[in-house]
Amino acid sequence: MKVLILGSGGREHALAWAAKRSSLVTEIICAPGNGGIAHIARCVPVDLKDVDAMVRLAEAEQPSLTIVGPELPLSLGVVDAFRERGFRIFGPTRAAAQLESSKAFAKQFMKRYQIPTAHYAVCTNAKEVEEALKHFHAPVVVKADGLAAGKGVIICPTLHFAHETAQGLFSGELLGSTERQIVIEEFLEGEELSFLCLSDGTHVTPLVPAQDHKRIGEGDTGPNTGGMGVYSTSQMLEPTMTEWILHHIAEPTIRGMAEENAPFTGVLYCGLMMTARGPQVLEYNARFGDPETQAILVRLESDLVYALEACVHGRLAETQLRWAPGASACVIASSAGYPGSYKTGLPISGLDAASRTPDVEVFHSGTALSNDQIVTSGGRVLGVTATGDTLEEALNRAYESMAQIHFDGIYFRRDIGHRALRKTQR
Ligand code: AMP
Ligand code: GLY
Repeated sequence: MKVLILGSGGREHALAWAAKRSSLVTEIICAPGNGGIAHIARCVPVDLKDVDAMVRLAEAEQPSLTIVGPELPLSLGVVDAFRERGFRIFGPTRAAAQLESSKAFAKQFMKRYQIPTAHYAVCTNAKEVEEALKHFHAPVVVKADGLAAGKGVIICPTLHFAHETAQGLFSGELLGSTERQIVIEEFLEGEELSFLCLSDGTHVTPLVPAQDHKRIGEGDTGPNTGGMGVYSTSQMLEPTMTEWILHHIAEPTIRGMAEENAPFTGVLYCGLMMTARGPQVLEYNARFGDPETQAILVRLESDLVYALEACVHGRLAETQLRWAPGASACVIASSAGYPGSYKTGLPISGLDAASRTPDVEVFHSGTALSNDQIVTSGGRVLGVTATGDTLEEALNRAYESMAQIHFDGIYFRRDIGHRALRKTQR
């Protein structure tokens, strides 16, 4: 099989790495890819905002299967366009991807199917916001409806601040684009969990769970990022809790989307808050998470491409995933200044030594190849990912490998997995 992967981050590097291990795969193309992916796949340029350009690429390359990494092409209908032309593609249609591309759609959908989520109101103007806020206590969460690359969720310490935030979203002052509708939501407390599943539109198969670390600073402080590190262990979710989440959240979501004539094929990522009254959905994503995918795929023992093919063909129920017991961890190295502005083009050294650490894979997020030298090209630069019998072992390996890597201003959190480690020490 010739596999085409759309995207350019650490998630796509991990997907390409897993595809390379597949016995079905003879060739991997990644568009546009990055400096690290170029070692294991042929990288070709493409604009992920341009569906026609992606179709032209498929027509030229004739891939047997396309795997979509990021949300943007999904929300623009790349899956619909590929399917119309007979190309097999793994990911949800534009209608199904609304679970991620419209927070208002997702909240109203969850309400229709009684899927546990925070109380909310959808508002389209300042007057509605004022009315709605009478029914909330501070802190309250204000969310832009559409895709906002992690910048569209604002936790507001006071109702007054919530009001101003809503105004800023409507006017375009906050995100640069004006929002037609916003979501006001109850603030939930608890630990977050990324619960990802594969679905062929009917059947649901969970992947191993993971916990992301969204804030830039140690101790979960400072602004939100795309994710600074993640871990996954066999112990982080009791089997009975996994069953509960499947039966009350993932399966009803897939059934509901089928009922609404928008069957969901692809990865359903349920972003959960594990609250005192049980798991609640914070958000859906319609794709693999980044960096969750890095930590999840290093634990996958069975063939990823075989499972994704099964989804596309509607026969996921016939396949089973096998997972390595133990743990994995991915620590992100970012550019100085991220998630604000940062420099690019800085040479990275020590990558060979870092990848020689046993049971470690260094996935590239934002790198480029410049005159045979790997240089930084993004905010999140690398995801050093390790496995181990225990979380401590996986983390030690990841940090040992990270110590070999240098670029000007390198930053990484030294406390990935801190919550889980604290629990085992108690
Ligand atoms: P989202 O993009 O919806 O996942 O939101 C980004 C982050 O904001 C989440 O990972 C949470 O840390 C936080 N968040 C979102 N909604 C809530 C909520 N209702 N209560 C508390 N925190 C939230
Ligand atoms: N790591 C969070 C996300 O992929 O959205």
